[in-house]
Amino acid sequence: MALRSQGGLLLPSMVVLTLAFAVSCTIASPRIENKIKSVTFLSPEFVLEPGSVENRFYYNIDFPRGHVALKSFRAEVVDDAGKSIPLHETYLHHWLVGKYYQRQDMAENNGDQKIQPENYIFGGNSGICQGTTLRQYFGLGSETRKTDTHIPDPYAIEIGNPAEIPEGYEEKWMINVHAIDTRGAVDRLGCTECRCELYNVTVDEDGQTLRPGYKGGISCCYDQTRCKVRKGYEGARRSLYLRYTVEWIDWDCGIIPVKVFIFDVTDTGKRLNVSIGSSPEIGCQVEFDVASCNTGSAVSDGCVDVRRTSLTMPVGGSVIYGVAHQHTGGIGSTLYGEDGRVICNSEPIYGQGKDAGDEEGYIVGMSTCYPEPGSIQITAGENLVLESNYSSTQKHIGVMGLFYILVADRTPNPTNFWHSPIHIHEKIKVSKSALAVVSLLGLVVVGAGLRYRQKEGERRRRL
Ligand SMILES: *[C@@H]1O[C@H](CO)[C@@H](O)[C@H](O)[C@H]1NC(C)=O
Ligand SMILES: *[C@@H]1O[C@H](CO)[C@@H](O)[C@H](O)[C@H]1NC(C)=O
Ligand SMILES: *[C@@H]1O[C@H](CO)[C@@H](O)[C@H](O)[C@H]1NC(C)=O
Repeated sequence: MALRSQGGLLLPSMVVLTLAFAVSCTIASPRIENKIKSVTFLSPEFVLEPGSVENRFYYNIDFPRGHVALKSFRAEVVDDAGKSIPLHETYLHHWLVGKYYQRQDMAENNGDQKIQPENYIFGGNSGICQGTTLRQYFGLGSETRKTDTHIPDPYAIEIGNPAEIPEGYEEKWMINVHAIDTRGAVDRLGCTECRCELYNVTVDEDGQTLRPGYKGGISCCYDQTRCKVRKGYEGARRSLYLRYTVEWIDWDCGIIPVKVFIFDVTDTGKRLNVSIGSSPEIGCQVEFDVASCNTGSAVSDGCVDVRRTSLTMPVGGSVIYGVAHQHTGGIGSTLYGEDGRVICNSEPIYGQGKDAGDEEGYIVGMSTCYPEPGSIQITAGENLVLESNYSSTQKHIGVMGLFYILVADRTPNPTNFWHSPIHIHEKIKVSKSALAVVSLLGLVVVGAGLRYRQKEGERRRRL
């Protein structure tokens, strides 16, 4: 797996970085010349045909290098002409972006060598699920086109800080894309919910028998499974990509770093002292089913499935951004403080038409929260309550109730306040040849080395 040649694009930022480092961090004046950079990349190609599923992990992806401050991350599925593909054709179950560290002196991996786990270190977000579950930095599903991800000034996600990279390792990034081709599907919603009966699977990706009562979710729509398509339906095989745009600025002492937290409404708070191996006992199960209100029990709840859980925040700080993740059927989610105050409420936006970004019946966006910095504080050890509501007018399988927040440990010093001088966008063009194409072989080898792939419960690492 060769290192990519994106250095040509990204090296200039490292040069600026060096200069920035030479400047003392006590300066009070903003660095007006620190421009937002924006680069668009394509993931490696994945090929889908009616009913087929791809759930791939691409390592060593194109990503900003050096000590930089991430400002936003947008992604969508496109074809090889660059056209946006609507969700009713290719359902984007999720994409996730994660960090890992790779030993510097490792020979280029040609797939022959045995990879030792110590050559890789998982670099997760700030929590709070166990192990590698929900430890991505960015990640969205069908809502990707209309969900705001930008981080307001002077905040950003700090990456590539030499002081944080373990000695002898280098920071790298991976992306996981899980897409389902639902053209001609017998039951489109059922395919997107990964209902096992439609995938005709009885074992999960590792060959383990599905647990009794498991009706659907990621264990039934893993890579290379197939959802049921109408007899006689013809649809072309096609090459698709995740097109992603990253915005960043060079690291600067005026920037306030934010921590990434992801909460899961299925989190019971239970943690096991195991580093590897998933277990039904671990707190974050990520997916759950919603029973229809029409079967059996009374309709007195107004056909709303309300799920709540209590979570303990490990550190305190100021909430800068918040957004929920729900699947079709979702009708809103709120994160509350211990005293009942609303930290953030996030509501789904459903599409109303056919076009990409507005597909009827799908969540095409989630509303976000941008609290006035300092106005929403969380204290260390505070017990938050996460609430996620679904309509139960029909049953839903394998849905999720996640909440993502960005937390800063300080607010800007007023005498040093940085009045967004940096919104000068600089588009950097990217050629297809500069794209990271990680071979499947490399992927598998790295995956085995990292030990946080399927074996550990890949299903937990998705949104
Ligand atoms: C379902 O799977 C079984 C066993 O793997 C296979 O024999 C059967 O043909 C499959 N059915 C369909 C409709 O694909
Ligand atoms: C977890 O297990 C390891 C090794 O078995 C042990 O050293 C460690 O103290 C345990 N941690 C907790 C919190 O029990
Ligand atoms: C969830 O539903 C309950 C009951 O209808 C309601 O009280 C609550 O406000 C709802 N929460 C959200 C986040 O929509």
